[in-house]
Amino acid sequence: MSRPVVPCLLAVFFLACISIAAFGVLNPHIEPPQCDSCHKKIPTEEEAAAGHYFLLKDTIDDTCHICHEKTCCKPGSLHGINHPSNIKDWDRKYFRKPKTLPLHNGYITCNTCHLHRMPGGNQYKMVRIVKIDGKKIDWTDLCTDCHIGY
Ligand code: HEC
Ligand code: HEC
Ligand code: HEC
Ligand code: HEC
Repeated sequence: MSRPVVPCLLAVFFLACISIAAFGVLNPHIEPPQCDSCHKKIPTEEEAAAGHYFLLKDTIDDTCHICHEKTCCKPGSLHGINHPSNIKDWDRKYFRKPKTLPLHNGYITCNTCHLHRMPGGNQYKMVRIVKIDGKKIDWTDLCTDCHIGY
């Protein structure tokens, strides 16, 4: 498990995975830690509290896109469904401010719905709120944190 490239080779059909491996990029979400895949500098607690994360790019989304533009999640083409990210203004009649999920300076970012480190145990694509029951994946609670009448 210490060589993240191995699962990529096994999942031969998983083109996204292969194309990332072809760029020589290791998965930064698993051990060993590769903090510099995203950070220029690790923020102290005070800096983080003030919203300074010293990411490689100006926004969280741009930082994720350093790698993910090449596979999924280009701006405007998220995940097969077209989910907006990096937005701050929307119709509050239909989409409330999330109660559980974090916004960043008011913006929905990749980090709103995803963790950026693989948590231990049962999880699905680092999605923050998900119910896993055998093969059934249910993320309704994630969606309804913002969507009204979903
Ligand atoms: C995949 C990209 C990515 C990697 C890899 C990464 N970080 Fe981060 N980090 C972020 C983002 C995005 C934020 C800001 C949002 C947040 O708070 O989660 C952040 C925030 C932080 C913060 C602010 C406090 C907090 O947790 O919110 C600390 C401290 C931190 N990272 C430390 C680290 C360390 C140490 C490593 C290496 C072990 C690391 N990060 C690896 C993307 C990353
Ligand atoms: C509104 C919530 C939401 C936002 C915002 C969001 N994601 Fe996702 N993401 C999901 C969900 C839910 C899934 C699981 C989808 C599935 O399996 O069909 C997912 C899946 C993924 C996957 C795995 C895709 C795969 O084919 O295995 C990646 C990579 C990803 N997201 C990256 C990102 C990046 C990068 C951003 C920011 C540009 C982002 N996500 C923003 C909810 C979100
Ligand atoms: C240095 C390159 C790099 C950066 C930067 C990066 N990722 Fe990834 N990410 C990867 C690789 C490699 C994988 C594993 C291969 C794959 O599933 O496409 C991955 C996988 C994922 C997955 C799918 C996990 C799963 O279980 O299938 C999600 C979700 C994801 N990344 C979200 C993010 C988010 C959110 C950020 C920004 C905070 C981010 N990534 C930044 C390289 C990166
Ligand atoms: C953090 C808040 C948030 C979460 C979580 C969230 N959404 Fe959204 N979603 C929005 C906002 C805001 C818009 C409208 C953006 C705009 O007006 O451009 C939107 C738009 C959409 C749209 C475009 C169609 C429409 O109704 O305008 C779809 C489809 C969608 N979301 C599906 C989902 C699904 C599926 C999930 C759960 C996996 C989810 N959303 C989770 C905030 C969220």
